[in-house]
Amino acid sequence: MTKVDREVLRGADLEPIETASVDELRALQIERLGKSLAHTYENVAIYRAKCDAKGIHPNDLHSLDDLKNFPFSTKEDFRVGYPFGMFAVPTTKLARIHASSGTTGKPAVVGYTRNDIETWANIVARSIRACGGRPGDTVHVAYNYGMFTGGLGSHYGAERLGCAVMPVSGGQTERQVQLMVDLRPTVIMVTPSYLLNIADEIDRQGIKKEQLALRIALVGAEPWTESMRQEINKRLNLRAMDYYGISEIMGPGVAAECAETEDGPTLWEDHFYPEIIDPVTAEVLPEGSYGELVLTSLTKEAVPVMRYRTRDLTRLLPGTARTMRRLDRFTGRSDDMMIVRGVNVFPSQVEEQILSLPAFSGHYLIELTREGALDNIKIHVEPRSDWVGDAQQSAAELHRRIKMHVGISTQITLSPAGGLERSQGKAKRVIDRRRVG
Ligand code: DLL
Repeated sequence: MTKVDREVLRGADLEPIETASVDELRALQIERLGKSLAHTYENVAIYRAKCDAKGIHPNDLHSLDDLKNFPFSTKEDFRVGYPFGMFAVPTTKLARIHASSGTTGKPAVVGYTRNDIETWANIVARSIRACGGRPGDTVHVAYNYGMFTGGLGSHYGAERLGCAVMPVSGGQTERQVQLMVDLRPTVIMVTPSYLLNIADEIDRQGIKKEQLALRIALVGAEPWTESMRQEINKRLNLRAMDYYGISEIMGPGVAAECAETEDGPTLWEDHFYPEIIDPVTAEVLPEGSYGELVLTSLTKEAVPVMRYRTRDLTRLLPGTARTMRRLDRFTGRSDDMMIVRGVNVFPSQVEEQILSLPAFSGHYLIELTREGALDNIKIHVEPRSDWVGDAQQSAAELHRRIKMHVGISTQITLSPAGGLERSQGKAKRVIDRRRVG
C-alpha cells in the first residue's frame, strides 16, 4: 500500500476503486483475472491438470464471461493436496499460514505472502470502514486467534485502519465483558452466536447500556438472519453489520456491509470475482439468481483460487453505496441444508421463526433423529430469562409458525434459561443423530 493509499483510507474519502465506474472496475478485473489465472496455471499442478483435462488455457480468456470455461475448485482439492498442494509459492516465500475449521478430516491449509498479508489488511480495513468504523476507534476482536483466520485477519485490518485493537479472542466471557466496561471499545468483531452469549453475560452482571461504548459490531463467520440482527441491535444498543469471509478465499473481509445503506455485504470485487452457479448442475446462473457463490481470486499470490465453490447460497445484487456488487443475506451453506421428510430446511429458517416470538432468546439447537423410516426434528429453545408469559403456549405457537412458514412438523423442547450450551465462536446449530444407530 502506498503512502497515498494509506492517507486516503485514514481520511474522509473512500479508496478510488470503491466509487470507480463499472467499466473501470471491469477493466481492472479482466486485467487481474488474466494474470491470476496464468499464475495459478503455471504454479499449481492441481489446477494445471484440471485445465489440461478440459483443454483450456489461461490464454483462452478474452472476456470475463470466458471464466465459465475454466474448472472449479473445492474444499476437496485442499484435502487431496494437503498440506501445500494448492500453494503457488514455496513455503520460504510465506509470511503466514492458517487453516480452515474443518469439521471432519484434514483442514484446508492456506498461506499468505507478505503482499497477501498487506492486501488482506487493506480489505479488512476497508470492511471496518464500510461498516462505520473509523481511525481512532477501539476495536475488540472476539474472533478466535490461532489457526482460524478470524482473529488475526480482523486484527491486522483494524490496525491498518488506525484503530487501537484489543486482541481478546474467544472465551472467558465474564472477563470479556469486564474489559468492555473498563476499556470502552467502540467496535466489536464477533460471531452472532457469541455476541448473544456476551449479551447474556452483560445482563447477568447487571451492566447498564450507558456503561458500554459499543457502536458497531462486525458480525460474521456463520449464517445469521435479519431477526438476529434486530435482536443483537436491541439488546446491545449498537448496529450489527454483516461481515463475510472464507479461509480458502482469504479469511474475513471478502465482503462487508456499508453503513450508508445496510443492505447486504459489498463484495470487494477488485480482489475477488464472483459467479453464481446452480449447486446441482454447476451451471452459471443469470445475474440476480439465487445459487452457490463461486469466487476467483484476482490478486492472491500464495494460494490463488480459481472458481472456488464456497457452498454458500446467496445471490448477487447491484451495487448501491459502492460500485461493487452486493451479496444477499446468505440462506446458509448447501451442506447445512437438512432434508426432513423430503422438505429442504435451513437452520436460518428455524432461527427466523424462533426470534419472531418474544418468549425466546436466540440460543437454539436443532436435533434430528430417525424413528423407523421417519425423520424427527426436535427444536431446543430457551425462554428469555426475563420472560413472564406462558412458555408452553409460546412453544405451541412456535410449532404452528414453523409448520406454516417452513412446512415441517417439529417437536419443541423448552430448556431452562441458560440450559443450552453457549457458543464461544462458531455455534453448532444442528445435531444429526440419524446416521448413528
Ligand atoms: O469464518 C472467516 C471469517 C472470520 C468470516 C470472521 C467473517 C468473520 P471459515 O472458517 O473458512 O472462515 O468459514 C467460512 O463461514 O463459507 C460461510 O459459510 C460462513 N460465513 C462467514 N461469514 C459469514 C456471514 C471464516 N457473514 C464460512 N454470513 C463461509 C453467513 C458466513 N455465513
